[in-house]
Order: sequence, then structure tokens, then C-alpha cells
Amino acid sequence: MIEADIDLQPHNTLAIPAQSAHFARVRTLDQLREALAFALRRRLPILPLGGGSNIVLTGDFPGLAIQLDLRGLSLKSEDLGHTVSAAAGENWHQLVMTTVKKGLGGLENLALIPGKVGAAPIQNIGAYGIELRDRFSSLQAMEIASGEIHTFDTGDCAFAYRDSVFKGSLRDQYIITQVSLVLPGKWQPYIGYPALREYLQKRNWDRAALTPALVARAVSDIRNSKLPLPEIIPNAGSFFKNPVVDTVCYESLKVAHPDLVAFAAGDRWKLAAAWLIDRAGWRGARRNAVGVHDSQALVLVNPGRGSGDELTGLAEEIAADVRAKFGVSLEPEPRYYP
Ligand code: FAD
Ligand code: EPU
Repeated sequence: MIEADIDLQPHNTLAIPAQSAHFARVRTLDQLREALAFALRRRLPILPLGGGSNIVLTGDFPGLAIQLDLRGLSLKSEDLGHTVSAAAGENWHQLVMTTVKKGLGGLENLALIPGKVGAAPIQNIGAYGIELRDRFSSLQAMEIASGEIHTFDTGDCAFAYRDSVFKGSLRDQYIITQVSLVLPGKWQPYIGYPALREYLQKRNWDRAALTPALVARAVSDIRNSKLPLPEIIPNAGSFFKNPVVDTVCYESLKVAHPDLVAFAAGDRWKLAAAWLIDRAGWRGARRNAVGVHDSQALVLVNPGRGSGDELTGLAEEIAADVRAKFGVSLEPEPRYYP
């Protein structure tokens, strides 16, 4: 079951060439437990792998990469809402479209996000004004040290913007095996995100006539117009998080740059990192094999299948330039391995 020296290039959407010393594809909880026991006996680091759309391989991985292929989906409808439970290895977008095709609303703004269900809680995926936590009910995860399954509800997960307990105090301690979501019994479209609002206004789509399927189509059209398809131009989506700054920082930037793009986030401000990078002159830039996408400056691309070092080198150069020009620090969104 455990293979040696496996090429991870097909397993990461940045198409970075790197090898994993050990590799296992698990389809059952028992296989997962066995794989974890193999790694623990040899004190190997573990890389849980979904679709590989939010990782950067900075070199060969000296441990065990575990491709999570646990499958299964169930849906239970009650008056107050619908509960959808999916195993970690289900494709996220297919889960969204399964609910949308049944006429159930709630996940449509999260259409077309690449990757698997099991990774969705790790960074609390979000798009077009909705985050996973808005629809989350609970998850099950296997503790790496014991092989036991534990249940986590919303309060346990410490969800925040692109963050959860699994990136913080419980980092590298659990493998998520199943996620349960609750969709509202009475659906209301959420169309407040600027790009979505503009798309609907341009087409004169009437709010009353909207369905989850129409919103999913709008979100998919917008995404396709600016985000490169990883199969064609390798990428990991947004390379940096949008930085959240205090009012003093926001106001001084706004005076210097009246067209700064920012959104209120409680008593702080979330700046559009894409705008900062674009304004610093990086959109469309190339550095040998790697570069910055020409219609979304927050997306670093790897058309020449360059190394992780080339990509992280470019990311550091961009972050240093943004810091010098705007005094704002950018933090990478994907996780670096090893
Ligand atoms: P992977 O890349 O395989 O893993 C990501 C991290 O989670 C790794 O640290 C991995 O070890 C860990 N992990 C994976 N599965 C498990 C598990 N079962 N248990 C424990 N740890 C696990 N993200 C957004 O939030 N919003 C977007 O709009 C968005 N758009 C994107 C667009 C493009 C074109 C691309 C390429 C990416 C985009 N992303 C977006 C990022 C990415 O799709 C999400 O982070 C997604 O949830 C990653 O899923 P994955 O299965 O590919 O995870
Ligand atoms: N903009 C520019 N130049 C660009 C691109 C955008 O100036 O090259 C400006 C535009 O004014 C735009 C603003 O930046 O209004 C924000 O751009 P966009 O709506 O594309 O969103 P984003 O902030 O770049 C975030 C998420 C995406 C998510 C979209 C939609 C982060 C880090 N990224 O991108 O998530 O799909 O909003 O909600 O929060 C991801 O996490 O991988 C990801 C793609």
C-alpha cells in the first residue's frame, strides 16, 4: 500500500516537480490508520493531500504524503434546513453542484473552488461573501497520534478569515475525514459582493427570479473570467491573504492612494492584496518559469513548471516591494512543504 519515491507534480496544482519519499492512497479509515501507523513508527512527517490546490512544494518531501480518497455523500432534509455530509475525498465543487441541482441553496457562492471537502475547513474556504463557517455544522477527524476519531463543532474549529484551529494550535495533529454542512430551509441569495452585484446588474437579473443555480452560474462565469485554470496555467489561486489593517493605516493609505480597494472588516479594514500588487507594477510580470497572472495580480503562476524555490523567490520579491511601497506585509495563503 505504501509506495516509495513518488512524483508529486501531478498532485499539486502549481505543477511543481518534487518527490515524496513515501506515498499512500487511502480509501477507508482503516487504511488511513495503517498509513499513519507506518509514518509514526518511522517518525516521518505527514502531508495530508486533497487536490493539492493550496500547497507549495519547496523541495522533496522526506515523509509520507497521504492522498485522502475517502468517498461518500449523504443528504437529510428537514423543515428547518438540509444537512449534507461528505467524506474528505469528495470533490468540493461537485458537492456544491449536487446540492444546487437539487434546488438547495447555500453553497452556490462557493462554486468552482478547486480541491476536496476535507481541506475546506483547514483555511475556512471563502468566496463571493460566503465562508465555509457560514454553512458549517461539524466535522470528524482522525487524531494522528492515536488513530481515534474526534468530532469538532463550530466552536471547536476557531474559524476566521482563511484560518482555523487546524492551521493553529492543532496544526499537523488531525486528518479531517468527514464534513457536515447545514443549508438553510428558506433560501435567500447573497449577492452583495461587488463583482457579483455588477454581473447581475449588467444582465438585469431580477433578484426575485434568482435561483441557487443562477447564482452558481454567475459566480462560475466571474471566476472563469479572471482565474487561470490550473490544468492550463498551473497556480494555487490567491498566493497571499488580503491583509487586514487598522483604521490609522487604512486612512493614511487612502489619502495617498484615493483609489485604494478596501472593505470594512469589523473595526479594521481588509485591503485588496491584488490591488497593492497590481499598483506596485507586478501584474503580468515574468521571472523565468514563474510569474504573476495577467488578469489577477494576486495569482502567481507557474507556466514553465519551475521549482518551489523560484516561486517563493518571486513571492518574497513581491512582498518586499509591496512593503516598501505601501508599508503593508503580505502573508502567503498556501502552505509551504516541507
Ligand atoms: P490541498 O492543497 O491538498 O491541502 C491544503 C492544506 O490542507 C494542506 O496543508 C494539506 O495538508 C491540508 N489538508 C488537505 N486535506 C486535509 C484533510 N483531509 N485533513 C487535514 N488536512 C488536510 N480558496 C478559497 O478559500 N477561496 C477561493 O475562492 C479559492 N479559489 C481558488 C482558485 C484556484 C484556481 C485555486 C488553484 C485555488 C483556489 N483556492 C481558493 C484555494 C484552494 O482551492 C482551497 O484552499 C481548497 O480548500 C484546497 O483544497 P485541496 O483539497 O486542494 O487542499
Ligand atoms: N484588483 C486589482 N488588480 C487585479 C485584480 C483585482 O486591482 O489584478 C482589485 C479589483 O478592484 C477588485 C479587488 O482587487 O475589486 C478584489 O479582487 P477580487 O474580487 O478578484 O478578489 P480578491 O480579493 O483578489 C478574494 C479571495 C479569492 C476569492 C475572491 C472572491 C483572498 C486571498 N482571495 O480574492 O479566493 O475567490 O476574493 O471572493 O481572500 C483564494 O483564496 O485562493 C481565492 C481565489
